[in-house]
Amino acid sequence: MPSIMDGLETTKQVEISRDPFEMIVGQEHAVSLVQSAVKQRRHVLLCGVPGIGKSMLAKAAYSLLTPSREEIRLRYNPSQPDRPEVIIARPEYSDSESIIQENLIHDEFYITPDRLPFDISVKMGFRCPSCGQISTPEASVCGSCESEKRFDWAPGESYHGLFRMLDVVREPALRTITNLEDINDDSYHVTYERVGSDEVKVTQRRLNSDEKQDLEDERDQDRVLVPLKARRFIRVSGASPVELLGDVKHDPFGSAESLGLAAHQRVIPGAMHEAHEGILYIDEIAALGSYQSHLLTAMQDKVYPISGHNPLSSGAAVRVDDVPCDFVLFASCNLENLKNILPPLRSRIRGYGYEIMLDSWIPKTPEIIDDFVRFMSLTVEEDGRIPHLTAKAVERVLEVAEEMALRLDNQRNALTLRLRELGGLIRIAGDLAVRDGSDLVLQGHVQQAEVLSKGIDERNLQFMGYKASESSISKDYFF
Ligand SMILES: Nc1ncnc2c1ncn2[C@@H]1O[C@H](COP(=O)(O)OP(=O)(O)OP(=O)(O)O)[C@@H](O)[C@H]1O
Ligand SMILES: [Mg+2]
Repeated sequence: MPSIMDGLETTKQVEISRDPFEMIVGQEHAVSLVQSAVKQRRHVLLCGVPGIGKSMLAKAAYSLLTPSREEIRLRYNPSQPDRPEVIIARPEYSDSESIIQENLIHDEFYITPDRLPFDISVKMGFRCPSCGQISTPEASVCGSCESEKRFDWAPGESYHGLFRMLDVVREPALRTITNLEDINDDSYHVTYERVGSDEVKVTQRRLNSDEKQDLEDERDQDRVLVPLKARRFIRVSGASPVELLGDVKHDPFGSAESLGLAAHQRVIPGAMHEAHEGILYIDEIAALGSYQSHLLTAMQDKVYPISGHNPLSSGAAVRVDDVPCDFVLFASCNLENLKNILPPLRSRIRGYGYEIMLDSWIPKTPEIIDDFVRFMSLTVEEDGRIPHLTAKAVERVLEVAEEMALRLDNQRNALTLRLRELGGLIRIAGDLAVRDGSDLVLQGHVQQAEVLSKGIDERNLQFMGYKASESSISKDYFF
């Protein structure tokens, strides 16, 4: 294959991809692990030096997730206002809508489990929540991906109820109300009932106008905690536990009815809840300190309560149990901090996911050089304020990448993958070109940028006569 460098005049002529995975230079091993991990909803720990694409990989992973199906709402609980009730709404029942459309004239009909709404088939034990494969409810583990299946039944159903459900029966296994407004503007009450290992009975009843009104009123009062359409890529810096776990706002009237704001309206979701069905990205996970254990509990239970954290606030009296938080964890960590990750948390990630070490350099090959040139072109396009680079400027950037691999990683014939730094160099060179009124970034701009882009420490040392490439500083040098 011809190299991009052959006949290259400027980076403007380079074709770039907008696919988030194709934009990643190198890290081939990490890319392929992340791709399979996220499809199977596994947790991932990314380890490596700053600026080599850890956050970028997590964001790319998000693009592979299927859209979320559950909206988390809170409902006023009249018997215990400080214990709001969690409602998991699944506004899109498109499958059942079409089934009911077909069967509008029947009050009762039978379907095979694959025609059930996705979530209902998971709850009834027909479908694997991870890969979606259908199997009989008697199989507790999916035959295809070996994930555990999830049996879920309405609160109040006893073990006996579950037993009967597994053993097949005529008891309604689940009830659900769907509001199917586009079917002649009517709402239906629909019950699904298991009648064998591969058949479900659907019973439907048209709601009268009062019932429909009640349903709508009830919904209006709900507080939407995590909207269905919210972007579920949530990033946490580890700075505040409240950010991770959620909180309840203070109200001077407490939950005194008719005076204060009702408790369920004051609940703030934590990042772990906002990331439900999505990705929770934690930068420097070790910095969470003791809060790592809360994270571990959330990962195990897939639900986590929200309560007020300030003991002096009226919010402290409020607690919402079982708020869903079924996220895929992406965490980043520096090698030195690996030892500060809680051992059970690390073992959970290892047991249910991957620990991935990212490369800080890559052997210099013609293919990788092409990727670097694409990276330079993309950096210009993304910045939007700087001109493209000439071929000579590109060559100079490549030389810098090679020097960095030697200086920082002691590797010859290699290029650095510390691309945040290299991107910074390109942007400074671009600013210098703009300052000079040049239409293109020239080699000279890159050379000037090299001096400017060096950290203050390094520049000061050079100013004082010390060369940054020397690896140790002699003590008597300072005084
Ligand atoms: N492998 C890479 N391929 C392409 N661009 C990269 C790569 N690594 C880093 N970059 C560039 O550097 C920027 C910063 O990368 P990113 O934020 O993913 O690094 P990080 O490893 O998460 O760093 P930190 O440890 O500081 O959080 C990216 O926006 C991208 O422009
Ligand atoms: Mg990052």
